[in-house]
Amino acid sequence: MRLCTPSLLCMLLVLFTFKADGCYGQFYAQCYYTRDLVTIEFIFSWYFNKAEYLRYNSTTDRYTGYTVYGAKMAESLNLDPKNSLYFYVYTLCKHNSDKYSTNVLKRVKPEVTVRSLRSESDNLPAMLMCAAYDYHPKGIKVSWLRDGKVVSEGVSSTDELSDGDWYYQIHTYLEYVPRPGENISCMVEHESLTRPHIHTWDRPLPVDQRNKLIIGIFLLVLGIVLAVAGFLYSMLRSKERIAKQTSQSQSISLESTVSETSSEASNQEHTTMST
Ligand SMILES: *[C@@H]1O[C@H](CO)[C@@H](O)[C@H](O)[C@H]1NC(C)=O
Ligand SMILES: *[C@@H]1O[C@H](CO)[C@@H](O)[C@H](O)[C@H]1NC(C)=O
Repeated sequence: MRLCTPSLLCMLLVLFTFKADGCYGQFYAQCYYTRDLVTIEFIFSWYFNKAEYLRYNSTTDRYTGYTVYGAKMAESLNLDPKNSLYFYVYTLCKHNSDKYSTNVLKRVKPEVTVRSLRSESDNLPAMLMCAAYDYHPKGIKVSWLRDGKVVSEGVSSTDELSDGDWYYQIHTYLEYVPRPGENISCMVEHESLTRPHIHTWDRPLPVDQRNKLIIGIFLLVLGIVLAVAGFLYSMLRSKERIAKQTSQSQSISLESTVSETSSEASNQEHTTMST
């Protein structure tokens, strides 16, 4: 048997695990519920080394064995009605489900998404969908607002659909002819919400505006790149010019020192000659 994963539809209670010499045994108690909580099934399983060998099922109120040893045990346990574990349906499963349905499940907020199913074309109006998921209990109101006013035309909706567990979902549609600059929102009213929640449709930019935006950004980036390149170029040029100028002036000063020393030398020559 596959163990149930803990959820609102089933509850897994590991009661006991023991380990010895690398072998281990486990007892599992599980409660299974139908969505309306009317039908509850209590299962108690005995495992040895991950293999279930004995199971009690409250629906049949009997034990079943899955190994030779388990079958023997089941046979003897089924002989005496005192071995029934049926009372757990009430003491364990029913008790916990009451706790769930009054506390946890009392109110669960919906997850809401608004998206476009169709944009406007030549012969069809645009269509939006507002979906509310995973709420509890049943009884939600979803409406469309156009610039803050409730829309009644072009609105359709599914029923509140059960998710197969205790949650519900609903899909509401709006067919409309878009007007530029308008604000379309989906308003959700549910007892889990203290006030109506408004989800505004985040309209993507129309294609021509988007293209204009892209071209604009491209030109802006191009402009910045050119400006930076121009600046760097002029910086380089002026650095080169400064470098040239300094090397020129250095060579001039070198020449002058050379001529000074040579004139000094010639002066000295003159003095030695005169002495
Ligand atoms: C318990 O027994 C009922 C009736 O035979 C069966 O439908 C159900 O699947 C059993 N449950 C488990 C978990 O074996
Ligand atoms: C759109 O309208 C809703 C409801 O009237 C409002 O809460 C929301 O702030 C508006 N959003 C914008 C972007 O105008």
